[in-house]
This record gives sequence, C-alpha cells and structure tokens, in this order.
Amino acid sequence: MIVALFTGITNMTAVTVTSPGGAIKLNVEVDSSGTPVYSLDYKGTPLITDSHLGIKTDETAFTDGFRIEGVDTVTVDRTWQPVWGEYATVRDHFKELAVRLTADNPDRNLTLRFRVFDDGLGFRYELPVQNGPNYLTVKDELTEFNYAGDHKLYCIPGDYDTDEYLWSETTFSDLPSALKSYGRHTEAQRVDGVTIQTPMLMKTADGVYVNMHEAALDGYPAMLLDVDPASYSMKSHLVPDRLGVSAYLQMPFNTPWRTLIISDDARDILASQLVLNLNEPCAIEDTSWIKPMKFMGVWWEMFTGNEKTWAYSDDYLAKPGVTDYTKLKPNGRHPANTENVKKYIDFAAKHGIDGVLIEGWNEGWEDWASYRKNRQFLFDRPYPDFDLPAIRDYAKEKGVRLIMHHETAANAADYELQLDRAFRFMKDNNYDAVKTGYVGAIIPRSEHHTSQWMVDHVRHVIERAAEYEIMVDSHEAPRPTGLCRTFPNWVAQESARGGEFESFGGNPPSHTCILPFTRLKGGPMDYTPGLFETKLSYYGEGKDSQAGTTLARQLALYLTMPSPMQMACDLPENYERFPDAFQFIKDVPVDWKDSRYLEAEPNRYITVARLDKNSDDWYVGAITDENARTAVIDLSFLPDGGKYEATIYEDAPDAHWKDNPQSYRIRTVQVKPGQKIRQPLAPGGGAAIRITKKN
Ligand code: NOJ
Ligand code: CA
Repeated sequence: MIVALFTGITNMTAVTVTSPGGAIKLNVEVDSSGTPVYSLDYKGTPLITDSHLGIKTDETAFTDGFRIEGVDTVTVDRTWQPVWGEYATVRDHFKELAVRLTADNPDRNLTLRFRVFDDGLGFRYELPVQNGPNYLTVKDELTEFNYAGDHKLYCIPGDYDTDEYLWSETTFSDLPSALKSYGRHTEAQRVDGVTIQTPMLMKTADGVYVNMHEAALDGYPAMLLDVDPASYSMKSHLVPDRLGVSAYLQMPFNTPWRTLIISDDARDILASQLVLNLNEPCAIEDTSWIKPMKFMGVWWEMFTGNEKTWAYSDDYLAKPGVTDYTKLKPNGRHPANTENVKKYIDFAAKHGIDGVLIEGWNEGWEDWASYRKNRQFLFDRPYPDFDLPAIRDYAKEKGVRLIMHHETAANAADYELQLDRAFRFMKDNNYDAVKTGYVGAIIPRSEHHTSQWMVDHVRHVIERAAEYEIMVDSHEAPRPTGLCRTFPNWVAQESARGGEFESFGGNPPSHTCILPFTRLKGGPMDYTPGLFETKLSYYGEGKDSQAGTTLARQLALYLTMPSPMQMACDLPENYERFPDAFQFIKDVPVDWKDSRYLEAEPNRYITVARLDKNSDDWYVGAITDENARTAVIDLSFLPDGGKYEATIYEDAPDAHWKDNPQSYRIRTVQVKPGQKIRQPLAPGGGAAIRITKKN
C-alpha cells in the first residue's frame, strides 16, 4: 500500500514527519544560512538534536545557500520475500519525506530523502542531473549526528582497511582512552584521532538503543564516524583514496542510506530488517540456484598450530604460472591434497553436510603474505597434488558440493582481470560457491579495503558471479550494508573478527554477544562456528590459545549468528570425538521461516528461537558473556494444541569456557506451548535446543 500524503511546491522552511506508529518524530529544515538541518525525537524525547547535512566536492558545495523548493511525503506499507534469511516475509513500513532543495548561486539541486520507520530512520542524498557539470569529486560528507547525552558506545576503532577488532564498551567521554587501548597488531592501519566504524551501537541513559550504519553502499566509499567526546556529536568520515578523494561521482547519483535502528527494547535491534528494507529488491530473476548450505573445510588444519600450510612447497621464490610446480619439492604439510580432500568429502557425505571448502588448492601460496607480490595467484592452476578432475568426480558421486577459494592477497585489480576465466573454471569443475579473500594491502593501486574503488570491485565480483550462478562468501571486503537483498548470491561475508581468532589468542565470550547488534545488521557473517576442540595453539607462534567458549555455546551460535552459508569449522576427528553433540550441527537448518528474539542485552546475552523454513521444527539458541546466567525461554511461540519434545544441548553444571569447556549434557524433555524453560548457561557458555512436534 502506498499513500501519497503531500506533494507540492512550498515556501516552507521546516517539515515534520512521524513514523507510522508515532514512536519517531523527524524534523527537517533549512537554517538562516540555507544549510539543511535535521533532528529526531524518540517517544517524545530528543535523541538527535539539530544536525547539519551536506556534501563537499571540489566542483560545488552542496552545503548551504539552499531553500526548500518542494516536499513530497508518502506512506508505504509492503512486504517482500527474501530468498533466504531470518524471516520468510519481511514488512517494509515507513513514511517517506523527500525534501527538494535548490540554490541559485551557484545553481545547484539536491534532494534529501528520509524514510521514517517505527524502528528507525534512513536518509540519503540524491544528486539529480545539474544544469552545470555533472561530475563530482567528493572530498567530504558533512552528515552530523548530534546526540543529547554522554551515551554508552559499543564500537571498534576507525580503520580504512580492517574491521577484525575486539569491541569496546565505553562512552562518548571515555572514547579516547578506550581507542588507545587497542594493541599494536592493527595500529598501523588505524585512522588517527577519535574515529570509529559502523555498524556501531549506542545505549542512552534512558535505555534507548541505537544502531548506526549505512544501507546499500554502492558506488561510494564506506562511512566511518568522527566523534567529538565533549559535545557527544558524530560526523561522517568517508574513506578516501590515496589522493585524498573519497568519491568520483557522475550525476544522477544517490548516496547510501545513513541508518539508525532505534528502540528501547534491545530485542528490536536484533529483529530489525531496516537495513535490508532500504536496499533495492532482488536483481536476480531466477534465484533457484541459490541454495543455503552447511559446509566443512580443508581450512582449520592450517590454524591449529600443527605446521600445516596453504602452500604446496617451501620454495618462497615459486611464481604461479612461471614455475613448474611439479619440479618443486613438496613440503609434506599441505592438506589440500587429493587424498585428504576425499576424506573431507567422505565425512561430509556421511553426515549430510552439504559442501566442502578447500583452501590452498592453487598455485601462489609459497610467498602469499610477503607483500612482494605482483601476480600472486592463478585461479585455474591447481597444485600438482590436487587432482581436480578426480576430486570433482568424487564430490559429484558423493553428492557433496564444492566451494572454491580465491585468496587474492588483496591484488583485487589482478583478480578482476582473471575473474571470467576463474568463474568459468569453477563452473566447468562443478563448484557452486566461492570464498574470496583480500588479505593485505590493496595493490597495485594502494587503495583501501573500504574505499570507493574496492566497494565497486566487490560489487562487480558479485554481479559477475551471479551471471555464472555462483554464490559468494567474501572475506576482508567492505562491511556489508544489506546488498545481499539485491544480490542474494552474496550469501555471507566475514568483515569482522571471526572465529579464526580463537587460534590467535581467543575471542572473549562477549564478542558474539555484540556482533549480532552491530556487524550482523548489514548481513550474515561467515563466523565459522562449530569449534569443539577449544584448546588451540597460537597461529604460527606455537603459543597456547584458549577459545572463549564452551562446546555447547558453539552449537547455540548456529542460531545467534544466522547465515545461509554456515560452516562446521572443526576437524572431522574432533566431531568424531563428540558425535552426540555433532548431531545438532547436522540437524540445525540455515534458513528460517520466522525468528523470535526472546532475551537480549548487548555484550551480555542473547536468546533467540527460530522456525525452520522447511519444517515445523523450532530451534533455540542462548548465549551469555563470561558470566553464568539462567536464560528464561518462553515457549509461547509454539502453536497451541500440540505436544512437543525438546532436545537440549547444554553446559554441564561444572562447565566453564576456560577450565572445562567440553563438559556438556544432552537431555530430552516434553514441553508445552507457553511453558518457560529456565536454562542455566555456564560462564562463556550457551545452550541449543531442537523442538519437534510429537504426533
Ligand atoms: C583470512 C581469512 O579470513 C581466512 O578464512 C583464510 O583462511 C585466510 N585469510 C587465508 O586466505
Ligand atoms: Ca580475515
């Protein structure tokens, strides 16, 4: 349903729009200098006070001297069906306000489009075709977010290249010291000053939660936020290229939406579909080939400190396409070999795991992280011990899907040149999906991982992949902004500190209690859950690493970190040690009809129930931070009249993430709709439940 409320030419200087249910009130005006200003109230209390809007370019300033030429408002209430996701149907309900601005000297036009939802706000700049030049060199975006108090912030430091950080829980005023405490490891790529990344989360003293991010990042650089700890204000900070230019635009152009998900109930932040709603509908006509999946990988072997390598040989001078690899001495520590890959395929086939990822299959890994690279990898050159035709045929015979790995070592330009050949090679060899990677500095252009050029690159890869009917899971790419709605073959991304860090010293239990409030609002994460052996060896350094999790919690992550491409990350032998717990990973779906967030507090705990897209089974996942907790699982979501059986995978009473992570129990109980299960969770623990209907 679309209802136009008001359209017309006006001499007004201010306009107010309220969300459909009335919780959010937005005011937009131009001040005496002709600068656009907005403010926002949540449930009658100012949340954002007068904040300026504008874009600074080399050619023209879209900042001041404006008057409101016209205003259009419309109410939209519609639904759509995602190809995969947390809900079978998503409601998109908002009031829209388009403020058409004009200026005479110099001659400029700019439209500000706002969508006011009951759970937040999205707005963007629309630059129509101008009377003058239609190319712009964007130097700065002047979007302000001025908050009314010294709120709590959950954030990671500003960085143009990586988001693989741990999260700080701090306040505006304490932010400078919080950002200072990050270790050396990532310091080199950090943005100077008090800059943070989106998505981030805020909590006001009144208990209002705000997720700040962007939607539909396309043709533009990613946005960071410059924070003023004294005035509680934030300003957009666009990632520049090496020349200091943020974006080269041709008009007409619409910027990404700047998004605020707002609620006084933390569960609403998790349930919100606002970012997806602000993205364009699916651009792929036939999506029948996009199939959610669980997969294993010839992968974790390279992280567990046992000297295994992606490289076939230790000859770091080997050059892909130049060196005859059959003449190199194999290092004997290379898991991507035919025999080992077949073992993974056998294991996946036996346990009903859909796919197998194989890393280290192609020429180029000998010197991959040295940054001495030129053409580092070839994507159609298997190593001599990787018999691709044999593996392809074996996987087909066993009904297991193959996932290819394209680590580019950040040579994205070269990857583009190889892309068609690489994708054709994949299809010829029966691969359905690709995991891409951009480890290191982007060469040869010295671009940043989140600059406009890289945003364009990744978008290009996704579109080309769709033409070849290939699903993509990208690592080290710009943080997702809901483009997976438009291109549902973009099934997952890393773009945060993932499970691999369990072997680099560990992720604290709170880490997965904040990611769903922040990183996941842009789209699914390839977090790689399913870690059963949590005593690890520090990657590359032989030091001990202890994962911040119990075994039972790893099962819960399949619910709290939903993704249509979900890994079972551990080694087959570790699953064989705990076959009863592995049963949950085998059973748990990766695509959902409905989701109910039952309990949530950022950085502390999450309890969620989900209904399988393809059956009537419900699944519940509950996690806590390093503190023990009793989750209260209200089974009101179960349809009345039925008898149900719940299989509960839980921490045993003596479980603890640090000292006793593998202590778990499995019990089956009869449950009724409306019943409340009081479920104990160990420190750093969790619980996973499968609920089936009894006839
Ligand atoms: C970093 C990725 O996150 C990881 O999953 C991958 O195995 C390595 N790069 C090697 O490509
Ligand atoms: Ca990574």
